[in-house]
Amino acid sequence: MVLQTKYVEVKDQSLFIDNVNALSLVEKYGTPLYVMSEGHIRHQFNELKTLFLDKYDNVLPLFASKSFSCLQIYKIAKEYGVGIDCVSAGEISIALKAGFDPHKIYFHGNNKTISEIEYAIQNDVDHFVIDNFYEIECVEKIALKYNKTIFATVRVVPGIKAGGHGYIQTGHKDTKFGFSARHGVYLDAIQKIIDTQCIEFEGIHCHIGSQVFDLYAYVNAMQRFVKFAYEIYDKLGVMVTKINAGGGYGIAYTQNDEPLDFETITSEIMRTIEEGYAKRGWDMPMVLIEPGRYVVGNAGVTLYTVGAIKSIPGVRTYVSVDGGMTDNIRTALYDADYDGIIVNKAEEEKTTQVTISGKICESADILIKEIKIAKPEPGDIFAQFSTGAYHYSMSSNYNQITKPAVVFTYQGKEKLVIRRQTFEDLTYFDEENEY
Ligand SMILES: Cc1ncc(COP(=O)(O)O)c(C=O)c1O
Repeated sequence: MVLQTKYVEVKDQSLFIDNVNALSLVEKYGTPLYVMSEGHIRHQFNELKTLFLDKYDNVLPLFASKSFSCLQIYKIAKEYGVGIDCVSAGEISIALKAGFDPHKIYFHGNNKTISEIEYAIQNDVDHFVIDNFYEIECVEKIALKYNKTIFATVRVVPGIKAGGHGYIQTGHKDTKFGFSARHGVYLDAIQKIIDTQCIEFEGIHCHIGSQVFDLYAYVNAMQRFVKFAYEIYDKLGVMVTKINAGGGYGIAYTQNDEPLDFETITSEIMRTIEEGYAKRGWDMPMVLIEPGRYVVGNAGVTLYTVGAIKSIPGVRTYVSVDGGMTDNIRTALYDADYDGIIVNKAEEEKTTQVTISGKICESADILIKEIKIAKPEPGDIFAQFSTGAYHYSMSSNYNQITKPAVVFTYQGKEKLVIRRQTFEDLTYFDEENEY
């Protein structure tokens, strides 16, 4: 079993998250339930601050908020002085509602719509990570209309394969994201930006993928980015004064995962850029990073109630719980692995090999493919670990399943952060119009 953070521990025959008994949370809020350790989240934000923001001059860590987006997380992020990466006007709207400084929001996305660009610019979001030629035209038109200046980092695809699954690799040549480094496509994009009246070119952006455990992939990417900076200067005569090194730092979901140390990744990123810039006698550019999973992934525990248990002789035993791919799509989508325990049997021996499945009408509705747990029975409470990133934020109402509540825990206390959906919510957007 992997308890990936000190804020989640087994003791007194139960599971405790920030010293709050998981069984008491089930009694109060029911299941399925997302529990987020605010202790862990704050610990991770504190690392972004002390080991990066405060340690170096002219840097900014961004929280990739797609990993877990709600009012509360933006409020916490604000306290640590970090910026955020938003990928839609919807994420921006929540961040702004939480009081986030629009100038510290970096707007990402491979197909920002005109209305999204308009919304962002009207609300003083002025940092855009530019993805494509069409976007340059749209941003220019809208920025001109509102008489605003937009600061651009250009997303460049370095041609590196990294990341835990094909669907979360973004740095190789066949990707929908960014401008290719091949045939100088990114140079054409930068020239187009330089030619605009109201977009100021600042730098280049890199995201090679997610759930990355390979330090060399980051070093390699930054070496290439330094070369891009040389090329931009030599061919276009402009300095790259900002490099965004992206996120993707792998976390431990099971004991097979060996995450890199945050300080090691960031110091290697900084060292590589510094050495490359020093060769030309250049000052360091501003450096940004944008981890998401690293901040919130290990903070999450999802609590479920066990229902039907089905043994198929010679095949496997399915233990079905009261949630599924609607609250965790990652197993179906990315073949993700997880660890977990039966909470009310937390200290019992794990004797039974099972598959944890959900209640959704899909064969892909599997939460954990293979796991050994204490002998399961209907009514047991199963806890799945490391469910903080890309779980709540990727949840759906498929099968008209109501979304679970989200509870935060901190220093022995708990609070409801997002209430459980009701049947009323399921028809909230339905209209009963006549033709
Ligand atoms: C551009 C970009 N930056 C940062 C992230 C965050 O990745 P992770 O949560 O793995 O750190 C992503 C994830 O998809 C991304 O696409």
